[in-house]
Amino acid sequence: MKNIIVLVSGGGTNLQALIDAQERGEIKGGKITCVISSNPGAFALERAAKAGIPSAVIPRKEYPDSKTYSEAILAELNRQKADLVVLAGFMTILDECVTKAYPYRIINVHPALIPSFCGEGFYGLKVHEKALEYGVKVSGATVHFVNEKADAGAIILQSPVEVRNDDTPETLQRRIMENAEWKILPRAVSLFCEDRITIKDGKAYADTTDKCQQ
Ligand code: GAR
Repeated sequence: MKNIIVLVSGGGTNLQALIDAQERGEIKGGKITCVISSNPGAFALERAAKAGIPSAVIPRKEYPDSKTYSEAILAELNRQKADLVVLAGFMTILDECVTKAYPYRIINVHPALIPSFCGEGFYGLKVHEKALEYGVKVSGATVHFVNEKADAGAIILQSPVEVRNDDTPETLQRRIMENAEWKILPRAVSLFCEDRITIKDGKAYADTTDKCQQ
């Protein structure tokens, strides 16, 4: 069983999707063993407590810069013997001391189809504001490995979602969460834990064949 550590900062609906998938037996080969929050007031912490999952708070505000903060996160990941780190609405960019220590073992969910509307400054509702400002007709979500550059690691899964003429950033965010993020994040986590993701020439290839139908 792989130890899955989930990093959060806010509401934690993606964490909830992971918890629900785990309770349905859909995360094969892994178990969420700890939730770490950068924000002491994150509702995600209540979701973890309700599910009986241990949590830790490492407040971003208590560290002067990204490097010292990342060192604290790294120490906790090592202490927790993390096999997989999942960034589920984690709003801090991690320094390379973490990404280098866990190559192809950190997964992030981003609320757009990378390489659109991603990189530094594109997080949370801002992503959807930019997509609407541009006028795209399709957006979606991406689950990818995390490397030294923001939102630039190998893509594992993507899912498109239509943009409607009357969308607001909030309605678009909600549709992308419901129809894409909450489905592909647990799926990618399970694929990782089942060793069904292969890396070749810096790209990720997930074996998405349904084993039950073979
Ligand atoms: C989600 O839409 C997630 O994709 C996004 O923030 C939201 C967090 O919601 N993450 C980023 O923008 C990271 N670049 P949640 O706390 O309810 O899961």
